[in-house]
Amino acid sequence: MRVVSVVGARPQFIKAASVCRALRGRHEEILVHSGQHYDYGMSDVFFEQLGIPAPDYNLAVGSGGHGRQTGEMLGMLEELLLEREPDMVLVYGDTNTTLAAGLAAAKLDIPVAHVEAGLRSFNRAMPEEINRVLVDHISALLLCPTTAAVENLRAEGITEGVHLVGDVMLDTARYFAESVNAAPVLARYGVEPDGYFFATVHRAGNSDDPGKLAAIVSALAALDRPVIWAVHPRTRKNLQAFGLDAVVEASPSIIAIEPLPYTDTVALLCSASALLTDSGGMQKEAYFFGVPCVTMRDETEWVETVELGWNTLVGADTERILAAAQARTKPIARPSVYGDGHAADTIVDVIERHAFV
Ligand code: UD1
Repeated sequence: MRVVSVVGARPQFIKAASVCRALRGRHEEILVHSGQHYDYGMSDVFFEQLGIPAPDYNLAVGSGGHGRQTGEMLGMLEELLLEREPDMVLVYGDTNTTLAAGLAAAKLDIPVAHVEAGLRSFNRAMPEEINRVLVDHISALLLCPTTAAVENLRAEGITEGVHLVGDVMLDTARYFAESVNAAPVLARYGVEPDGYFFATVHRAGNSDDPGKLAAIVSALAALDRPVIWAVHPRTRKNLQAFGLDAVVEASPSIIAIEPLPYTDTVALLCSASALLTDSGGMQKEAYFFGVPCVTMRDETEWVETVELGWNTLVGADTERILAAAQARTKPIARPSVYGDGHAADTIVDVIERHAFV
């Protein structure tokens, strides 16, 4: 079987690392990088560190408005798919790359397999929500990480081709966890285990909004222990544009650093007192490693983390962020709601069954 896999943004590299490994032993994979993320620290370093094969194509789409970015990818992917004639197109998550690849394939009547299908925030103001809803409705195989995702699809009338496979980010976390050596990473930033917070902020809803970004910066600056903040390029630009960079620099508690490679991220996450984030994937990674999470959003797709008490939704509200970071709830139970760490193998099994019926 010939599969075209399309990735383009940082979380997709982390997910593809496990699926590529499982798929390549058994089938021909053509890996396409859309170029949505292109900085060395946002892209190449993940391929190197996670052992992802070099992409067969890089579309170099770069940054831009949603329409231009998605439209350019759509045209290029259509040409590529017509030329390579795959049996299936594999897409990941909810980015503009996911939408462009799903749409290009579906219009050519090539079955789409969607890894991380069924996730919903029920907030249509998020570009990711639009992407994931649309891709789910044009996919032949809906590869769900959780039972909540299966239920979300059922509520939208999607029941065919739906498979509960577990979460591929858990596969990647398990595979690389052993090679993580936290001590030198913590030493680099002068922090002790359980003596600091770890933070990331990149959602458009937070980082493009001056009021919300200011509220988050105020909270980080008022924490009672150091906070290592790996700053996404979108957020870095906006901190400067909104004049908040001076507040960050003046804060004794904020250690603002460049985006980190995967194993450094895991190292800092594992030993943190809590994670403060608006990322989707990192809410789960915190759960995998038993680290309390404070989510600076009003809703989450990863409802299990909240229901089980490991994650607190606080929006971009300074006081609520501080209160949740202070409380950092750490329940005793941490059940395997994201599968057994073998989601990638299950995905390849499902794809094979689909192809050969
Ligand atoms: C994208 C995804 C989001 C995902 C995130 C992971 C969409 C709509 N959003 O958000 O779902 O959670 O990736 O990080 O697809 N930039 C750089 N260098 C890069 C990449 C981006 O400087 O390598 C800057 C550019 O100014 C760009 C901005 O970041 O305009 C936003 O990048 P973009 O890919 O549009 O969205 P993300 O915020 O990264």
